[in-house]
Amino acid sequence: MQQGTDAAGQRIAGAARTPTGMLVGGEWRESREGARFPVLDPATGEVIATVADAGVEDAADAMDAAAAAFPRWSAASPRRRAALLHDVFTAVHDRAEEFAALVTLEMGKPLAESRAEVAYAADFLRWYSEEAVRLTGTFRTAPGGAARHLTLNRPVGPCLLVTPWNFPLAMITRKVAPALAAGCTVVLKPAEETPLSALLLARVMAEAGLPAGVVNVLSTSRPGPLVEAVLGDRRIRKLSFTGSTEVGRRLLALAAPGVLRTSMELGGNAPFVVFDDADVDAAVEGAVAAKLRNGGQSCVAANRFIVADSVAPRFVGGLAERLRAQVVGPGDDPRSTLGPLISQAQRDRAAGLVDDAVAHGAEPVVHYGEGAAGPGDAFLRPVLLDRVPPSAEIARKEIFGPAAAVYRFSTEEEGLALANDTRSGLVGYVYTRDLDRAVRAIEALECGMVGVNRGHVSDASAPFGGVKESGLGREGGEIGVQEYLETRYASIAAPA
Ligand code: SIN
Repeated sequence: MQQGTDAAGQRIAGAARTPTGMLVGGEWRESREGARFPVLDPATGEVIATVADAGVEDAADAMDAAAAAFPRWSAASPRRRAALLHDVFTAVHDRAEEFAALVTLEMGKPLAESRAEVAYAADFLRWYSEEAVRLTGTFRTAPGGAARHLTLNRPVGPCLLVTPWNFPLAMITRKVAPALAAGCTVVLKPAEETPLSALLLARVMAEAGLPAGVVNVLSTSRPGPLVEAVLGDRRIRKLSFTGSTEVGRRLLALAAPGVLRTSMELGGNAPFVVFDDADVDAAVEGAVAAKLRNGGQSCVAANRFIVADSVAPRFVGGLAERLRAQVVGPGDDPRSTLGPLISQAQRDRAAGLVDDAVAHGAEPVVHYGEGAAGPGDAFLRPVLLDRVPPSAEIARKEIFGPAAAVYRFSTEEEGLALANDTRSGLVGYVYTRDLDRAVRAIEALECGMVGVNRGHVSDASAPFGGVKESGLGREGGEIGVQEYLETRYASIAAPA
């Protein structure tokens, strides 16, 4: 692996086995054009590695490999697919520190959070190794008695998986594991900011014995033409994407001519509702988790704190204290609780939303200007804004940064209406001690997921996904593998 400065070199020493080529048909290789692109450490802006830069010709090779591997992989026994996935789970688990160091290096999050991500990522491999042998069908006598109806699951075919930078490992295993369990082969395009975790995972999969061509990984700095080329290939049958709603819309349009199956995990604008009967200390604890995980760079990050008037002073005071106590610094410094954002552009975007809200009359209780920003240009100190007016941009946009915006309400109906006043519908969080109210909120919130007295809902065994403009389909749980399966029905003449 090419190393940056001495300091960066030391920090990536544990990741020295990370490949920097692309994996196509079981071969590690350079791009056909011989191009490479740099991967940056968001904490310093230094180049930590260069990786192969795939173009459309490489995409065609990867499609050839995925299509060629499909007949054998889809015919492999469920037990074999399960065993391979379990071996990959064990390898990721055993090499967790190496993966965590790499995630921190290329994405910036504190090491403790990277360790949590690696555990989360490994869980998808374990869960789908267990699901691979439980893909059932049905058999029934037709109501009229003249036939028997058999339904079975068939893998959809070669899939394109497009993954984001915010969880460079977990968003990959959440797609790859169910795809492989179902018998599909894949072309994976990781985010250009964070290709190294994907490449290390690919190496671990190859070392575990995954047949050539089942997983092909294309790192690229030119995702548009590459993705368009793969989606235009008649052999691709499915697209799974995690990223912004804006890019998701464009990909849906590209998937339309081939009438591809799609799973789209898109943007959120999560409400975090604190009712007047809530345990406020628990709500503050949950708010810290829901806001600061990954520095707020998550589609399930709490984006709008909707707080009952009567408890708002305590909630705002408690949250302000916790935000001020954050230690902002590089992710590999064990004292840091908040790392850099992925780039200076992302930092400026989040700071711009804060500035706009203040200009519209929001009260800055904690402001990013209060202390030193951190060693590099991508760091942003936490922010807490109270009484944010709905006219501010921050009310509608995904913040993707450590800024908490508080909106106040007086009645339950008003709080839930505010929560639903968005085109997104990924997750909502509610804090209440009243079970009836919790049930009313679960039923009223226009979201795919609801956290009740919890600021964290993500789990490999649960269906992750949204409604409205937050996406299509679910990942995780029993349902996640169905995204990679087609139902085939056979009608069999009944014996005379
Ligand atoms: C995401 O932000 O895209 C996913 C977060 C999660 O799985 O918890």
